[in-house]
Amino acid sequence: MDRTAPPPVARVTRPQRERLNGHRGGVVYMTGLSGAGKSTLACLVERQLHALGLRTCVIDGDDLRCGLCSDLGFSDADRIENMRRATEVAHLMVNAGLLVVSAMISPFREERRAARSRFQPGDFLEVFVDAPLPVCEARDPKGLYARVRRGEIPGFTGVDSRYEAPQRPDLHIDTTRCTASQAAALLLDTMRLHGYFHLETAH
Ligand code: ADX
Repeated sequence: MDRTAPPPVARVTRPQRERLNGHRGGVVYMTGLSGAGKSTLACLVERQLHALGLRTCVIDGDDLRCGLCSDLGFSDADRIENMRRATEVAHLMVNAGLLVVSAMISPFREERRAARSRFQPGDFLEVFVDAPLPVCEARDPKGLYARVRRGEIPGFTGVDSRYEAPQRPDLHIDTTRCTASQAAALLLDTMRLHGYFHLETAH
C-alpha cells in the first residue's frame, strides 16, 4: 500500500475569488444607536452596489439575532460575543471577495477596535451613523423606545446601557443633517475613494 501523503490540494485564494468577482472584498462596519439609520443606509447602499454588478452582503443585528446569535441577549458580555461573531462572519465574507456592510449597534469601542484588527489594513471602514438619542427616540421605527420608557426593555443602548461613540471613525454621517439617499451617496463615495470598487471595473 502506498503510504505517502497525498499532495496538498491548493485552496482557492482570495485574489482568485476577487478576480472572479471583478472587485475586491472589504467591510463597512457601521455603528450607531437603534434608530440612527444604519439598516436603512445599509439597504440603500447594498441596492446601489448590486446595481453596479458588485457582490455584497448586509449583516444586520436584528437578522443575526434571529439565527446565529439567537442564544444571545443584551448584557455587555452577550453584546461582545454578538460583535465577535458578526466580525467573524464579515471576515469570512471579505475573504470570499464580498463587499460587506455590517449594520449593528456595536456599542463598545474596544470591541470595534478588536473587529478592525481582525482585518488587513484597507479592508475595514468604520462608519458612525449618528443621530442623538432624542431624535432616535422620536423616530422610534420599531416602537422600542416607547416600550423602554414604559419600563418593558431594561438595558437599552443609549438609555441604560452604554454607547461609546467613535472618536475617529473613517466616516461620520449625521443622519439629522442629510436625507437617507444623500447619506448613501456619501458612503458609496467613501467606499470608492477607499478603493473598495472602481466604477470603470464594475460590471
Ligand atoms: S449590539 O449592541 O449587540 O450590537 P444589535 O445590533 O445586535 O446590538 O441589535 C440591536 C437591535 O436589537 C436593535 O435595533 C433593536 O431592534 C433590538 N434590541 C432589543 N433589545 C435591545 C436592547 N436592550 N438594546 C439595544 N437594542 C435592542
